[in-house]
Amino acid sequence: MALITIEGVDGTGKTTLAHALADALGRRGQTVRCLREPGGVAVSEAIRALVKDPALVIGDRAEALLYAAARAQLVEERLLPALAAGETVILDRYIDSSLAYQGGGRGLGVGAVAAINAFAAGGLAPDRTLWLDLAPELAAARATARGEAPDRLEQAGEAFYARVRAAYAALAAAEPGRIIRIDAGQSPEAVLDAALTALADLTF
Ligand code: TYD
Repeated sequence: MALITIEGVDGTGKTTLAHALADALGRRGQTVRCLREPGGVAVSEAIRALVKDPALVIGDRAEALLYAAARAQLVEERLLPALAAGETVILDRYIDSSLAYQGGGRGLGVGAVAAINAFAAGGLAPDRTLWLDLAPELAAARATARGEAPDRLEQAGEAFYARVRAAYAALAAAEPGRIIRIDAGQSPEAVLDAALTALADLTF
């Protein structure tokens, strides 16, 4: 049983790693569940569609609260039951995304965003967090190469992503035992190896 989260800006390979990791841990006999944020349960998927809609103008505080609401529902409806059943959960984004994007990127402050998320998640913290780090321009180029039209968040621009990355770096520096930085410029195989090394001391 463990809660493993994957973090980083869009285009760093979080989803690829989540699936590769699920396969690798599954082969080792663990029951693994992959979830993503915002989403994973019906209410949170509906909030996901709302926050990503390029046609909507959403204030920064409302945005932070919407992500927190999606998270609260996921924790209650899916995460806590899965962990209680002894599953290992691989979660594509969690509270650190809000700290980096809303706290850092939007400038709401990490402390304020941490406070609403402590309430939303009831204090449920990851056992380990894998931060896929890549220069924002390289990550943006990868996302564009996938042919994705920029969603509402991705329209925020370069300075925003520089602040998001700086916030992730500060979080990793503050919690070096939990947040492990992985160079996302490596091959997918090398990223998976680094992730398995980062999880090696976890007792599942
Ligand atoms: P993501 O699942 O990475 O979307 P994509 O399909 O583009 O890979 O996340 C959706 C967007 O929401 C992404 O731009 C990051 C943002 N986000 C936040 O700003 N705060 C949060 O707390 C979370 C979970 C995501």
